Amino acid sequence: MDKILVHGGHRLSGSVKISGSKNSALPILAATLLTRESCTISRVPDLSDIHYMLTILSELGCEVERASGMVQIKAEKIKTQAPYEIVRKMRASVCILGPLLGREHEATVSLPGGCVIGDRPIDLHLQGFEALGAAVRVSGGNVKILAPNLRGAMVSMRSKFGSTVLGTGNVMMAAVLADGTTVIDGAAEEPEVVDLANFLIAMGAKIEGAGTRKITIEGVKELHGAEHEVIPDRIEAGTFLVAGAISGTEVTVSRVTPAHLTAVTGPLSEAGFDIKPNGNQITIRPGTKRSALKLDTVPYPGFPTDMQAQMCALLATTEGISVVTENVFPQRFMHIAELKRMGASIDLQGSTAVIRGVSQLSGAPVMASDLRASAALVLAGLQADGVTEVNRVYHIDRGYESIDEKLNELGARIERVKT
Ligand code: EPU
Repeated sequence: MDKILVHGGHRLSGSVKISGSKNSALPILAATLLTRESCTISRVPDLSDIHYMLTILSELGCEVERASGMVQIKAEKIKTQAPYEIVRKMRASVCILGPLLGREHEATVSLPGGCVIGDRPIDLHLQGFEALGAAVRVSGGNVKILAPNLRGAMVSMRSKFGSTVLGTGNVMMAAVLADGTTVIDGAAEEPEVVDLANFLIAMGAKIEGAGTRKITIEGVKELHGAEHEVIPDRIEAGTFLVAGAISGTEVTVSRVTPAHLTAVTGPLSEAGFDIKPNGNQITIRPGTKRSALKLDTVPYPGFPTDMQAQMCALLATTEGISVVTENVFPQRFMHIAELKRMGASIDLQGSTAVIRGVSQLSGAPVMASDLRASAALVLAGLQADGVTEVNRVYHIDRGYESIDEKLNELGARIERVKT
């Protein structure tokens, strides 16, 4: 298991190229199951979660070829049962359910277990499939779904924590080949849902309203092969902007869509940083004064849960009292105990973290618990005095392409140690 050693206090500067979005690429790769024809997806990030998805697709019978960010998939003949050993490694593997149902009218996938960021049920995905006429049975840890007559319906994707992102994608992927019209009410509005819809439209699907609360899908008889470029990863971009903020220097993220990042750049401006979008780049510079923040995570277009841990790392050394409330995954606070081991002063009250900024963190051995928590610990290590040893970094490799190399190119000193 690799670990990362972050030598604190090195100032970052320069520009970093942002990779394609993990959370767009995963359902888009799954969507290639919807056609027998070949699809080409570009700007696919090189991440372990992407590797798991491609392995699942190969196991289902797809021909998969991959070369530097480009993936070609041909799902001519496919199986409908995904192997447990691979599916269990990644929760996002549930997004093969929608395309398998749409194309083959049946799917068997093992149910995802709990996860450190919370309970993470898939009840809304299953209710959506049932609304489209599917019969869902759970037994032996698997969910088996049969849908001989998939037909359009009204479907709600609203949970008490906000709309479900992968659930919206899953129902959309089943509905594109259903008979008649499906209306998804309370749809997730995330850019990743829009990206998936754009790929489906390129394959011949009829979809309107992606990016709003109401998506309308007119079922078609079949889809064809298509080419698609994945959108930039707004969370990777946000993470590097926070790296610049923590280092107190000028950093530019390039190949990004600034409009997707306003919920992150807004609070960074409010905290006193100077943010300049310019075409497909955003530059962050330190302002004259830093201020504490009140942040609430909410679904898009609000402040994203996937940036909460990284912002906690920044606010840990921002003078004053910041209050961060997690509304999407109320238990997503595994990074707090680790930040406290580095000297942060944080009081966790239910799903709210009350952060009293300290002037300096100190390096310590810390444990990564999930993807964004590990990123937060690396960011905290950039500011800390001495060396921060981040263990279990396989979490970070699930969602950040070469984060250590990219940070080193900006001037950080990070070593990856094989243990
Ligand atoms: N929920 C339900 N029932 C469901 C589905 C979701 O109650 O059937 C609840 C969840 O428990 C949660 C809320 O709805 O409280 C939102 O969860 P959502 O379904 O939107 O999460 P997801 O689609 O499984 C994606 C991203 C996550 C990101 C969330 C929220 C992918 C592969 N994952 O997950 O990304 O945090 O949306 O934006 O797209 C990450 O990249 O680090 C990550 C965890």
